[in-house]
Amino acid sequence: MSEHKTTTFSSKIGLIMAAAGSAVGLGNIWKFPYIAGENGGGAFLIVYLICVALFGLPLIMTEFLIGKRSGKSAYGAFQTLNGNKRWNWISWLCMLTAFLIMGFYFVVTGWCFSYLSEAVVHVFSGLDTEALSAHFVEVSSNMPRMVVFSIIPVVLTAAVLWFDVNKGIERLSKILMPLLLMMMLMMAGRVLMLDGSNIGMQFFFRFDFLKITPTVVMEAMGQCFFSLSIGMGALITYGAYMPKTQNVTATSIQVIVLDTMVALMAGVIVFPAVFAFGFNPAEGPQLVFVVLPAIFEQMSFSWFSSVLFFALLCIAALTSTISLMEVAVAFVSEASGGKLNRHKSVLIVSGVVVVLCVLCVLQPRLFDYFDEATACVLMPLGALSMSLFVGWALPKNGEKGVIHADKGIKRWFRKIYIFMLRWIVPAAIIVIFLNSLGLI
Ligand code: PFF
Repeated sequence: MSEHKTTTFSSKIGLIMAAAGSAVGLGNIWKFPYIAGENGGGAFLIVYLICVALFGLPLIMTEFLIGKRSGKSAYGAFQTLNGNKRWNWISWLCMLTAFLIMGFYFVVTGWCFSYLSEAVVHVFSGLDTEALSAHFVEVSSNMPRMVVFSIIPVVLTAAVLWFDVNKGIERLSKILMPLLLMMMLMMAGRVLMLDGSNIGMQFFFRFDFLKITPTVVMEAMGQCFFSLSIGMGALITYGAYMPKTQNVTATSIQVIVLDTMVALMAGVIVFPAVFAFGFNPAEGPQLVFVVLPAIFEQMSFSWFSSVLFFALLCIAALTSTISLMEVAVAFVSEASGGKLNRHKSVLIVSGVVVVLCVLCVLQPRLFDYFDEATACVLMPLGALSMSLFVGWALPKNGEKGVIHADKGIKRWFRKIYIFMLRWIVPAAIIVIFLNSLGLI
């Protein structure tokens, strides 16, 4: 039996913060601006928001409900609910996705740690636009340095999981998330005073229908799943930890609102600065790493601001990596039938992750491939499978229907939820897939 049944979060707010901690991370601050920048700014934003509205609530609720109903992580949940092994492959899909995401996510977290260490010793002061771009290339292609800096967050994440999942995540998220939000507000305030920042605001908010291509739609859907942590079982695990009385719908909405706010704020910080300083919005994965130091140069208390921000960014990344690694750890320990305890599972998973990170550092094409494949293929596939599982494979109102895990759901809302899950979500994912492949 899993350890999860006995472990619950000590408070409802603790769970919300932990789930929001999983959602809010590098996906919002690093990935969202660079993907939006590459995909037409405003055109991307509108499709992204539609995806969040369409997929966010039904899919987050589904993962929470699967976890809450089964009391298991992604490994045992499907079998427990279904009574047989027919849908177990979804848990394997979740685990594969978790490992591939960790492979590149820890490398980006390593960039953050590296930038934090450099902010402390004033490396960025006086560097102009070109020098900042050159600096990123220099840092990220320094293999030994990047290997070391990627392993640091792996070790920190493993340490949090080693001791106790709840206390670690709860304590961190409750204090630091509001601090991150405040810091971002201050940065947005400063950036909007720069000359030329209005062009960036237009780029981010002006919606040009003609720029919406199948690729933009596919990227927006992928970003939505990645940013909300859906389609790979992370939220199933948190569902299993959920206090019995927690309202799943309200919790899901809170996570979506927080996550979307942070992504929007990242856009409002990055794009005005991109245009004010003369960067290219389609710069790619390095975008925020060249733009942010330039912003801090313009702020009062620039040393303090940059150190504090990069520290908060590292912590936001860690609250996400904790949830990612937890999927794999719970999987390994449950799949071994109890032979591997939590500690051994943490060690095994960390070892594999270190190998993947090193491969991603040595081979940047692998990094891009993991990034693209997880968001645009594996997570949508995971989400599609989970919606079919709950929408079609489980009896709707029977004892096993996950909906019973949430007593607070109103009858009318339950109908809408099931309808979305059975028809709208799977159809939309399939149409977007086929469309991006040029088949329709
Ligand atoms: N949602 C995280 C982010 O935006 O940075 C990334 C992530 C975390 C994806 C956990 C998936 C996951 F299970």
